[in-house]
Amino acid sequence: MKKLLSLALIVLTTCFQARSDEGMWIPLFLGEFNEAQMQAMGMKITADDIYSVNHSSLKDAIVIFGGGCTGEVVSDQGLLLTNHHCGFRSIQKHSSIEHDYLTNGFWAKDKSEELTNPGLTVTFLIRMEEVTAIVLDSINTDMTEAERRMLINRHIKSIKEEATKDTHYKAVVKPFFLGNRYFLFVNEIFEDVRLVGAPPSNIGKFGGDTDNWMWPRHTGDFSIFRIYADKDNNPAKYSEDNVPYQPKKHLSISLDGINEGDFTFIFGYPGSTEEYIPSYAVDMTVNTINPIRISLRGKRLGVIKKYMNDSPEIRIQYAAKQAGISNGWKKWIGENRGIKRLHGIEKKEAFEKEFQKWSSLTENQKYNSLLSAFKETYDELYPLKKNLYYVVEGGLGIELIKYANSFSSLVNISNSKDVSQDKLDKTVKRLKKSTSSYFKDYQPEVDKEVFAVLFKTYYENVDKDEVPEEIQKQITKYKENFILFADEVFKKSMFASKDKIIDFLDNYKASQYKKIKKDPAYKIASAFIKQYKTNYYTKIAKLNSKLDSLMRIYMKAQMEMQPNKLFYPDANFTLRIAYGNVMGYNPADAVTYNYFTTLEGIMEKEDPDIYDYVVEDKLKDLYNNKDYGIYGNNGKMQVCFIANNHTTGGNSGSPVLDANGNLIGINFDRCWEGTMSDIMYDPDQSRNIMLDIRYCLFIIDKFAGAGHLVDEMTIVKSE
Ligand code: ARG
Ligand code: ASP
Repeated sequence: MKKLLSLALIVLTTCFQARSDEGMWIPLFLGEFNEAQMQAMGMKITADDIYSVNHSSLKDAIVIFGGGCTGEVVSDQGLLLTNHHCGFRSIQKHSSIEHDYLTNGFWAKDKSEELTNPGLTVTFLIRMEEVTAIVLDSINTDMTEAERRMLINRHIKSIKEEATKDTHYKAVVKPFFLGNRYFLFVNEIFEDVRLVGAPPSNIGKFGGDTDNWMWPRHTGDFSIFRIYADKDNNPAKYSEDNVPYQPKKHLSISLDGINEGDFTFIFGYPGSTEEYIPSYAVDMTVNTINPIRISLRGKRLGVIKKYMNDSPEIRIQYAAKQAGISNGWKKWIGENRGIKRLHGIEKKEAFEKEFQKWSSLTENQKYNSLLSAFKETYDELYPLKKNLYYVVEGGLGIELIKYANSFSSLVNISNSKDVSQDKLDKTVKRLKKSTSSYFKDYQPEVDKEVFAVLFKTYYENVDKDEVPEEIQKQITKYKENFILFADEVFKKSMFASKDKIIDFLDNYKASQYKKIKKDPAYKIASAFIKQYKTNYYTKIAKLNSKLDSLMRIYMKAQMEMQPNKLFYPDANFTLRIAYGNVMGYNPADAVTYNYFTTLEGIMEKEDPDIYDYVVEDKLKDLYNNKDYGIYGNNGKMQVCFIANNHTTGGNSGSPVLDANGNLIGINFDRCWEGTMSDIMYDPDQSRNIMLDIRYCLFIIDKFAGAGHLVDEMTIVKSE
């Protein structure tokens, strides 16, 4: 019996063996675990060329761009490439009807024209180090989660202090394998990052939300920035005296192009994945959370899109917001379809059955009640999450309500026993600032319609006893007529009018907090927030803390159960390597997708009446004359390509490198059929989408006439 069981285990563990295409690997351990396989797959460089602290390596050219993307340095003067959608907010902020850089693109003719972006940073990794032993020192199983966390935080604090002593570096320590291991990252953060160039949206966002998450794709999704430093090449706040940063390393760019089967790797910052969660968690995401998000966002987008189509001003104002709302919406639709197609929940359940058998063995008894503990916890969590998501995507999806809520700190400060004038002034100043940027991109008529639609959906779906009293009162007052409800709130609330708010803030005195408290939008906001705090927050936090502990143990158990499997840690927005080969896929029965697209496809999709499918005359001329310069390939201009690299959100803007470590593309998306890879990677259908670097340079050089930027780069082409 025992023999049989262990045989079954071997079969099980081998079929769970990490595949070369799946995984986001830690650069520090490439030499130990991945190098041989990468080289067998075609890589010609070494792990040491990719990551080293002893000499400059590829890692020195990779940055975190802003708060959620990746970028790469491509010249010795700090020139940086990332995605158009990563630079989108910066481009949008500089745009107006007069200077519509979103529509027309932007190209600085020389360095003096490069545009500053307050708040935008790039982060270089100086080094990483495993610090598990120090972080978990004196941690034992008798501790409560809270005690454990406190001690861990204390250890992390001193590790960070020690690591950055006498330097301008910043350190972070992050948990890996769900808290079983810890790593330290020492970073250098630059704060003067300027916009150098961006193609028009009908190139950088070609296909818009219709093509987003889809293959075949024809998006020139790139933008160009430059990092500035002080005279000593150190990070500095923006100053006219700053000079272009001289990096330790910049990537060389290969124009050799790609062939099917070529080895590629993605070097960047994947944000988050959940590959090791139990079936209950997948069930909650697929059957509870995603449907709520999809339905509420779908409704919100319907309203916003209608207004954007009718007004160029609203199109600019809502471009970035709409892109964000739509991006998640479409991803979750794809994720749900993918999990269903893969029978993801059933697969997890089958694994759990094996796990249950394994954990009933005497030596594994300590894991035997894990799954039932998960079930219990998720049973409690489901209803809470359901109602929470109705508040987050419903009530707080209304801009007016979210904005009104940002005044709660002013109410609290004004309402406290001895009001601190200093604090009050600072808060008013902060609110004035956020008010002006909020109203730059706001249209009450759009939001009013969103209000009516979201409230209706919220009210019809949320558990009845979960509607806060104050909100129920207002809904009853307007006899469940949500259009009337919206009309009245927008008429009466000062938060719907820039003039009223500016006037209010200009003359603000502490006693006026009462006026805020009486405002109908503020009343709704605080009813939601109060309910969130009293009904959800504490309960969810408690359950989450229990889940943290269960997940940590479950992860450890999974690793013990499958000793031959090479595990990769879930993405956690730390620097990783994903590697694979260029290849197409079959998205459906009888359908085969090629691995690259060309300019021909752009011409096929052209539609002058649809903003996202306009093709500019300049691009058409280049196409008609096949004027592709050194960037073409046998009379064709290749645009995007796909491979089976395992990537996720945050990998956008990541460099795509070839066997020699040269830049051949910029990662920007995944194919829809494979987007469930954040929960379950599918070797058959999970593909990442990359911009061909030749199309990027063609646009810079031939389309925009900014060849001086290409001259700055290091180009390699073998003959
Ligand atoms: N899907 C890409 C990623 O998740 C973003 C593409 C942005 N483009 C858009 N049309 N919303 O970030
Ligand atoms: N588009 C994503 C990003 O912005 C990448 C992905 O999810 O594949 O990071």
